[in-house]
Amino acid sequence: MMVNIDVNGKEYKKDIEPRMLLVSFLRDELNLTGTHIGCDTSNCGACTVLMDGKSIKSCTVLAVQANNHKITTIESDDPKLDVIKQAYVDENGLQCGFCTPGMIMQTFYILENNENADEEYIKKNLRGNLCRCTGYKSILDSIKKAEEKMKGEISVSK
Ligand code: FES
Ligand code: FES
Repeated sequence: MMVNIDVNGKEYKKDIEPRMLLVSFLRDELNLTGTHIGCDTSNCGACTVLMDGKSIKSCTVLAVQANNHKITTIESDDPKLDVIKQAYVDENGLQCGFCTPGMIMQTFYILENNENADEEYIKKNLRGNLCRCTGYKSILDSIKKAEEKMKGEISVSK
């Protein structure tokens, strides 16, 4: 089946199996392997990407459902994503890094939708993303730092 999917601002026309998952389309058809598969059962959030600005778990969506939609992945060169990535580095928001692409994409979604996200809001919206390494404090610190940077409260270069 032919699909036409915009990924990170580039259009991809591909003939794919109707049963192909979006995460497989990204990883296997486009070689965008930053989106991870942690569970394949909609529990871990490692596969989180944005579809038309909304966060989705790409292991629960068929690639054909993304036909004529815009997908944003961890490989996007959106400058706001760079701010978030740097905040995760600065605040040690990752250890093994397996959950990190999904965490960062969910952070992007959170901060795009609420520029005054408080801790309660962040925790509520991070419930679908699991990390087995960091204990979450450093992830929360990373998100708060990214939020501050986006508000211009501290220098991006800090
Ligand atoms: S791989 Fe999609 S939620 Fe775990
Ligand atoms: S950093 Fe290892 S699973 Fe989150």
